[in-house]
Amino acid sequence: MGLNVIILAAGEGRRMRSRRPKVLADLAGRPLLAHVLERARALEPERLRVIVGHGADAVRSILSDDVETVIQPEQRGTGDAVACGLEGLSASSTVLVLYGDVPLVEPATMRALTDAASRADSAILTVELPDPAGYGRVLRDIEGSVERVVEDRDATPGELAVREVNTGLLAMKAGPLAHHVAGLDRDNAQGEYYLTDIIARIRGAGGHIEAVQPGHVREVTGVNSRSQLAALEREWQRHLAARLMDDGATLRDPERIDIRGELTIDVDVTVDVGCVFEGRVELQAGTSIGPHCILRNCRIGPEARIEGHTLIDEATIGAGCRIGPFARLRPGVAVADNGRIGNFVEVKNACVGRASKINHLAYVGDAEIGDDVNVGAGVITCNYDGHRKHRTVIGDGAFIGSDCQLVAPVTIGARATIGAGSTITRDAPADQLTLSRTRQQTFSDWRPPAEREGGDD
Ligand code: UD1
Ligand code: MG
Repeated sequence: MGLNVIILAAGEGRRMRSRRPKVLADLAGRPLLAHVLERARALEPERLRVIVGHGADAVRSILSDDVETVIQPEQRGTGDAVACGLEGLSASSTVLVLYGDVPLVEPATMRALTDAASRADSAILTVELPDPAGYGRVLRDIEGSVERVVEDRDATPGELAVREVNTGLLAMKAGPLAHHVAGLDRDNAQGEYYLTDIIARIRGAGGHIEAVQPGHVREVTGVNSRSQLAALEREWQRHLAARLMDDGATLRDPERIDIRGELTIDVDVTVDVGCVFEGRVELQAGTSIGPHCILRNCRIGPEARIEGHTLIDEATIGAGCRIGPFARLRPGVAVADNGRIGNFVEVKNACVGRASKINHLAYVGDAEIGDDVNVGAGVITCNYDGHRKHRTVIGDGAFIGSDCQLVAPVTIGARATIGAGSTITRDAPADQLTLSRTRQQTFSDWRPPAEREGGDD
């Protein structure tokens, strides 16, 4: 029979002290729950259900159509949440219970759990922790079989010394699961229906519980507080950094990198400290990223160099380009091979042709710039008339002198030169010099005011 996944995500997460439901807290650029869903999907379950309650609308807003939601009207504990989620499931199907606040469990571990469930009455995921504080403890009989789980707050000092903890993840058939959760009571320190109490009930009915261990502790680390969230974020970043280095990247300091999405690299990539990668970022062979850059949804071509403190957002950078330091590339930018974008240059919705340079203090927006163009310091495309945006087109080989304003819509012909300090409001022809400046004058009979007034002291 098929597999159904139930993800518990109705709790408030009081220990987070937040207005938002805990399962929406951000880990590596995505909500905790999104990590759980992605991993659960790898198992190709028949049904994927999320139990919502606290902040249900906010939680639903991040879910796609393949996910069913079931409302738990009152957050009366994990046992009650599972009871809500079993509605309509075939008794002989297998149910895998995941927690929305345990985000990093690997599909292989989930599979091990469902496999174990097919050999026993129930399977739980457990792990030995050096510091088990806060977790439910797994109690075994003298033969080593799992007997029951006791919650941290209900445990005796002897039980608290046990280091094998319950991770919350569990797999078993829907029929017996429904039977056992229906029999739970809330006679405990938190006055809640504990899902974990079904272990003792299964055992009491003569059943056998298998305990499965994950490949790594971080897979079962739950997030209940902001310091646990921060610790798990670092742990995960360390793992991603190690993976990048295994793939051949040089990271100047693997402790100082943040990957909040999917970063793919080719050979001989170097990343300096303090860089943040968001969304889908591709670094092609031999690229080097300077310190403190933010790269979001972009592709950096082979042998390109991104200098420090550069922000690139939805842009494509060609081979051999040199970008920054302190450049800002906004959405819709494509810089062709060997382009140069220098310090304090902002570029938006523009293509910059091969080997063209915009090296200092410029704004280029809604523009098409040809090959081998030089855009001087302080040049501004005046793309916005207060109502609409207009385009600026600059032909191949043009030279735009410093401090020009190009008032769009406007076209500068190929190989044209625009004299420094010009305000260009009409198209400038190819191969010619265009200027718009008042003529420079010198006044030979001019004297400073003090001299003019005859030294009257
Ligand atoms: C739970 C386990 C504990 C385990 C730990 C691992 C129980 C009783 N305890 O404790 O043994 O060591 O997880 O992380 O199961 N939720 C609901 N509805 C509710 C209550 C909770 O959907 O009424 C959801 C929460 O949103 C959360 C998950 O269930 O995603 C776990 O709840 P939480 O309160 O964090 O349980 P823990 O105290 O961590
Ligand atoms: Mg928890």
